[in-house]
Amino acid sequence: MADPETTQQESRPAAVTARSGQYTIAVALVAALGGLMFGYDIGVIADAKTGIRKAFDVGDLTLSFVVSSVLAGSFIGALGAGRLADRIGRRWTNVWGGILFGIGCLGCALAVDITMIIAFRVLMGIGVGFSSVAGPLYIAEISAPWSRGAMVSLYQLAITIGIFLAFLVGLYTAPNGLWREAFGIGAALGIGLIVGMLVMPPSPRWLVGRGYLEIARGVLQRTMGSRSAAEEELRVIRRTVDQEKGQRLVTSIRTSRAVQLALILAIGLAFLQQASGINAIFYYGPEILTQVGLGDEKTLLQAGLGLVNVLATFIAIWLVDRLGRRPLLIAGTTLMMTAQIIGAICCGLLPEVGDASTGQDIPPAAVVILLSLATSIVAFAFSLGPLVWLVISEVFPSGVRSGCVGIATSVNWVGNFLIGSGAMIIIKADPAIAFWVFAGFNALTIVFVIWRMPETKGATLEDIEQFFTGRTPGTSGPEQRELG
Ligand code: BGC
Repeated sequence: MADPETTQQESRPAAVTARSGQYTIAVALVAALGGLMFGYDIGVIADAKTGIRKAFDVGDLTLSFVVSSVLAGSFIGALGAGRLADRIGRRWTNVWGGILFGIGCLGCALAVDITMIIAFRVLMGIGVGFSSVAGPLYIAEISAPWSRGAMVSLYQLAITIGIFLAFLVGLYTAPNGLWREAFGIGAALGIGLIVGMLVMPPSPRWLVGRGYLEIARGVLQRTMGSRSAAEEELRVIRRTVDQEKGQRLVTSIRTSRAVQLALILAIGLAFLQQASGINAIFYYGPEILTQVGLGDEKTLLQAGLGLVNVLATFIAIWLVDRLGRRPLLIAGTTLMMTAQIIGAICCGLLPEVGDASTGQDIPPAAVVILLSLATSIVAFAFSLGPLVWLVISEVFPSGVRSGCVGIATSVNWVGNFLIGSGAMIIIKADPAIAFWVFAGFNALTIVFVIWRMPETKGATLEDIEQFFTGRTPGTSGPEQRELG
């Protein structure tokens, strides 16, 4: 295969890129609305839980069910979404994601007891689970190879905006006890996704699989920007789809080395993304800040960290199709690990653990810890955040793509739950241990990426598929790592 750099240059039709580029951005932005739901759902509960506790007079255990019920729903949704995305298509799976999320939010807003809240939080989760599979998948399948990285990163950008939006909403609703309104706003995001997706075209790869060649040709012409590029792409997609006719998910996982290799990569990255500790910051940021002596400013600082998360994602959008996936992942994870090690050391330098905030000077070590949290977020935002969704959506053969994306994504949700609940216990005991544990996982991620991940920049989904198929057992050495 040609050098990806050359492939990228050659396959980009110079004269027509601008219009097709704008069209693809518009389509990707709409699909990324699912990311807004995803992020909002992470952020909203942090503030709403105090209001819910008061309204229904519930204890810690019940409240932890309220928080984690959405993760259970997302796991179920992600697992089911793979099959659904094949049956009804990527676009309709996103629409259903919006419908379930919207109903879930409204149900929580109108809840009369805690059981109703938990049940509707599960429904919200199923909606998010649908969109966390069908969103990146749809964007990856509809994007041209030279901009696929940036387009899928828009999904992550939307997640970060969703988290930040929830913090902002919380700044107003939490002190005023307006948690029902906070859920109500979430319903609007679901409606946005439904309306937006209904006017978008179906994924061309799904269309070819279903035999709708003419419609697929039309979509490809708009996204590729030229008739000849679209014809060439259609030919390659048809060939791949024909070869894979009748492929079954379980059989492929059992017998195809290509599927197994891609699955190891995607599941590994999905889990390691959560093991990086990012959600320890988003879920328990206020607790960490209080413990290191910054409790007075915790709400504002937490919102600031949310904003840093949004802004740093633009680095990935800018660089992912220029530098490639591997350099960004390795650089970001190394930076995150370094920041966590510094954070761990500084925890040991704090004068007194506990809420030392009131009326005392802020210890310098606490400021360094805050900076290490901010640096970890920046590093995650341009590496593990967007790239994991991207890699998961581009490494599988088209015949089993949606099923495998569903499996890898559901592992991400299990990791989210396990690491989220485990982090709480460790942070309460000693934040330094949490920093060390997450730094250790990030070291593992660097080794894993160097060892298992090919560079997929600029390659078509079909090129990537050929790469994994061409790899024979025992040849996963460095000489085979580059796609080019
Ligand atoms: C992760 C989420 C995380 C978010 C933070 C996403 O890629 O999957 O678990 O909360 O990034 O921006």
